[in-house]
Amino acid sequence: MATTGHAAHRIIEKHAGARDALIPILQDIQAEEGYLSQEALEAVSEGMSIPLIQVYGVATFFRAFSLEPRGRRVVCACTGTACHVRGASAVLDELERQLGVCAGQTTGDGEYSLETVNCLGACALGPVVVVDGINHGHMTRADVQHLLGGEPESAGADR
Ligand code: FES
Repeated sequence: MATTGHAAHRIIEKHAGARDALIPILQDIQAEEGYLSQEALEAVSEGMSIPLIQVYGVATFFRAFSLEPRGRRVVCACTGTACHVRGASAVLDELERQLGVCAGQTTGDGEYSLETVNCLGACALGPVVVVDGINHGHMTRADVQHLLGGEPESAGADR
């Protein structure tokens, strides 16, 4: 669902149009719509009287922001050094194989987005995969099936 200008304006009003509220406003729009559409960014630029290029600069600087629609579920595989030496590549390969998309893409049915991150700060648990904000540590290729099968507990949530 595309963000409407009305929704962006409502969120801007909630933050009282404060200039330093750009990031919180973008966070709120993304939380509501799942991503930052061009329409939303233009509405923010206009509503906050900030040049569009500056709004795009912030929206593209932080990895937490997405300019593309994301899936209903977000799978984020850590590919940092500690996770890599513990087998993160095999886990990511299996995620890509089972979802049928490459990292950075969303499945055709809009169910899953697959993303990567360089380090989640939980290196001792590597390889780590985060699904919908829940950490899954010590992941193996074999765990991926359970992880995507709707039974995250069986894959060792937060272990
Ligand atoms: S390298 Fe994966 S959590 Fe640090």
